[in-house]
Amino acid sequence: MSTIWMSRYAQRTLGIKSSAIRELLKVTQRPEIISFGGGLPAPDVFPVKRFEEACHKVLTERGAQALQYGATEGYEPLREMIARNLARYGIVAKAENVLITSGSQQALDLIGKLLINRGDRVLVEAPTYLGALQAFNVYGAQYVSVPVDEDGLITEQLESCIRSGVKFMYVLPNFQNPAGVTLSEGRRHQLIVLADKYGIPIVEDDPYGKLRYEGEHIPPLVVLDRENLRRDNGFTLGNVIYLSTFSKTLAPGIRLAWIVAPEDVISKIVQLKQAADLHTSTFTQHVAYEVARDGFLDSHVKLVRQVYRERRDAMLHALREYFPHEVTWTHPKGGLFLWVTMPEGTDSQALFRAALAEDVAFVPGDSFYAGNGAEGGRHMRLNFSHSQPEAIQEGIRRLSVAVKMQLRAAHMAR
Ligand SMILES: Cc1ncc(COP(=O)(O)O)c(C=O)c1O
Repeated sequence: MSTIWMSRYAQRTLGIKSSAIRELLKVTQRPEIISFGGGLPAPDVFPVKRFEEACHKVLTERGAQALQYGATEGYEPLREMIARNLARYGIVAKAENVLITSGSQQALDLIGKLLINRGDRVLVEAPTYLGALQAFNVYGAQYVSVPVDEDGLITEQLESCIRSGVKFMYVLPNFQNPAGVTLSEGRRHQLIVLADKYGIPIVEDDPYGKLRYEGEHIPPLVVLDRENLRRDNGFTLGNVIYLSTFSKTLAPGIRLAWIVAPEDVISKIVQLKQAADLHTSTFTQHVAYEVARDGFLDSHVKLVRQVYRERRDAMLHALREYFPHEVTWTHPKGGLFLWVTMPEGTDSQALFRAALAEDVAFVPGDSFYAGNGAEGGRHMRLNFSHSQPEAIQEGIRRLSVAVKMQLRAAHMAR
């Protein structure tokens, strides 16, 4: 161990751990394992050919520009395309409101840098996206957790939590990672009204919004916020910073996402991004623009939806077929995940080890809580996007063997 370095690490690095999921997933790389662990999109739907053609076009038509340094804000035509796309969902934004980032993960880090002083309290859902907790932890965030149910964040518990003093709220309204649940329209309104009443900004993280498999589109918080504010003062973008990404619609390897915010907020984040990486890869932005344009993104998203809907249905079907009746799970209307709840007294870490012995993997629920994770002890997150339907059927059968064993062991221990 090189102590000369350790004694020089900055305060903010103390207590920072590698993501439990990334560590777990290393164990699940064996080819015989069916993994429901990672949040991986299906590689079989990546538009490889379209990327190949786009790379060729960019290099032959504007190679020098695409290989040069670029503006921190991002490639203008891409920002304009994103702004036009947002308008279709009622989000009124100009290119000046859009900042391109290297994945939404970088957006979360920049937001942490922008908003969090050591000890500031951030309101999060319980469970919530582990990567956000990791990003905010570096800046010394403390958390106030509000539980979710099938209709998302339980807004009835929100006001007392807000009153306990929070800097901002981090919310995943659509097909939440990890629970797969969606914030109902009624609760979205309540959230916006409370945020406005107490002057608490919202960070709305929406990587999965386009991947809806059933039910009607629900307006994002950034739209409801605007409608709410317009009554008084005509703002276009107000209390909400909105995030989305190409990771789940095109491909995660391109690391391309965007922040939508009022112009003054964008200007401040641009300064922070300059210090972080100057700008997101110019070449990748040019290529993504060529890939997405002329309606390709829309038609590709249709295909992704169709493939993932089939996989979600395969998983729901297999769960009904194999799992014991004491176990329950969410019915995600979109996204990549569903959330399984075991009876009281089950230990999801022990279940994880038992599942590995059956050559199947998932992520134990405790990883997704801001506290010590005790609430997650009887939950598991299952990803359905990455495996083919036949593998899903077989994986859930294997998992049911481990689940039944654990339930018997828990029963005998009583
Ligand atoms: C809720 C949420 N936010 C952000 C991210 C990070 O996305 P990106 O690949 O754009 O960094 C993910 C990825 O799984 C996610 O689920």
